[in-house]
Amino acid sequence: METRDLDGVVRVAALAFPHHFEDRGCFADRLALHPQGCFALEDAGEVVGYLIAYPWRLGSAPALNTGLDALPEGADVLYLHDLALDPRLRGRGLARPAVEALVRRAREDGWPAISLVAVNDAEGFWRRLGFETVQDPRLAEKLASYGEDARYMVRRLPA
Ligand SMILES: CC(C)(COP(=O)(O)OP(=O)(O)OC[C@H]1O[C@@H](n2cnc3c(N)ncnc32)[C@H](O)[C@@H]1OP(=O)(O)O)[C@@H](O)C(=O)NCCC(=O)NCCS
Repeated sequence: METRDLDGVVRVAALAFPHHFEDRGCFADRLALHPQGCFALEDAGEVVGYLIAYPWRLGSAPALNTGLDALPEGADVLYLHDLALDPRLRGRGLARPAVEALVRRAREDGWPAISLVAVNDAEGFWRRLGFETVQDPRLAEKLASYGEDARYMVRRLPA
């Protein structure tokens, strides 16, 4: 992903997460802090999907639509902030290879796990991709701010 992709990312995000609005600044901020974890999928010059991941703390999740001054000290997990496709491109097997590529890179970089907050009833999707739901009472309040169906999920990456 590059800065010129951000308008397209915002467009796809608005379609993919109608109940979890995040503004351009939030995406620009992640791209500035961890460009190596930000990817855009382009079709005929148009951004039609994106994936954003960055170092975070296991058992914790960032607040929605909030800028970060810096990545957390002592990060011990790669946090998958968003994976989204334009609706017209879903169901064609594009998401699985994107996640598997991220898993490969995370292993190479030595991350012990990838975490995420599943929304949009996507828990089943993430299970198919090797993620497990983790119940952690310390996360209950934060998860509630993501909506009723939000689930904290982790895919461990044993060496
Ligand atoms: C989530 C999303 C990226 C998946 O894209 P996709 O094109 O359907 O994904 P794929 O076609 O690569 O499917 C991967 C696998 O997940 C399965 N799958 C897709 N959506 C699913 C769902 N909601 N529940 C269970 N399984 C699902 C597919 O059948 C496929 O299984 P297989 O590889 O074993 O055959 C897309 O639906 C999207 O952009 N949704 C809106 C944004 C969103 O909700 N992102 C995740 C929230 S955290």
